[in-house]
Amino acid sequence: MMRGKWAVLLLLASVGGAAQAVDYGHQSYLLHCAGCHLPDGSGSKPNDVPSLHGIPGHFARIPEGRAFLTQVPGIAYSPLSNAEVAEILNWMLLEYSKDTLPADFVPFTEAEVERLRAERPAEIFKVRELVLGRLQQLGIRIDY
Ligand code: HEC
Repeated sequence: MMRGKWAVLLLLASVGGAAQAVDYGHQSYLLHCAGCHLPDGSGSKPNDVPSLHGIPGHFARIPEGRAFLTQVPGIAYSPLSNAEVAEILNWMLLEYSKDTLPADFVPFTEAEVERLRAERPAEIFKVRELVLGRLQQLGIRIDY
């Protein structure tokens, strides 16, 4: 009997934790990203701020793309901790790019972000080109 009760308590605690993580990702997004990418993630064409809908989900498929996501200037040069970056990226991908995320999407962890974010490519645009080329080889064409 006791065991069942504990199981329920643990379940409630973990569900509460997950809900909090989602809210936390959303709040951080609004605070650190929405100024440029807008609260709905649609970006701004006239200001060359890309939409976060659709395309980033493809990036999450391949190692080069995952690295790119942690290295875009809005993230690389932000004061966000690695754990916060992981939260925001996971939130952003599930919220705006679910349709393009691979079925076996593995969420970012603090450790992965720490490792990838440590490298800051001098020319992020070249990294993007490389990622697009690699996706094209896999049959995924991305047109802006
Ligand atoms: C000061 C404005 C600004 C802020 C703040 C900002 N970004 Fe960006 N972001 C940009 C611009 C401009 C680009 C495109 C040019 C580039 O790659 O530098 C971009 C590119 C991106 C890309 C790549 C999209 C693609 O299709 O190539 C992602 C993903 C992204 N940002 C996510 C974020 C997240 C998440 C945050 C918050 C932590 C954030 N950005 C904060 C301006 C911003």
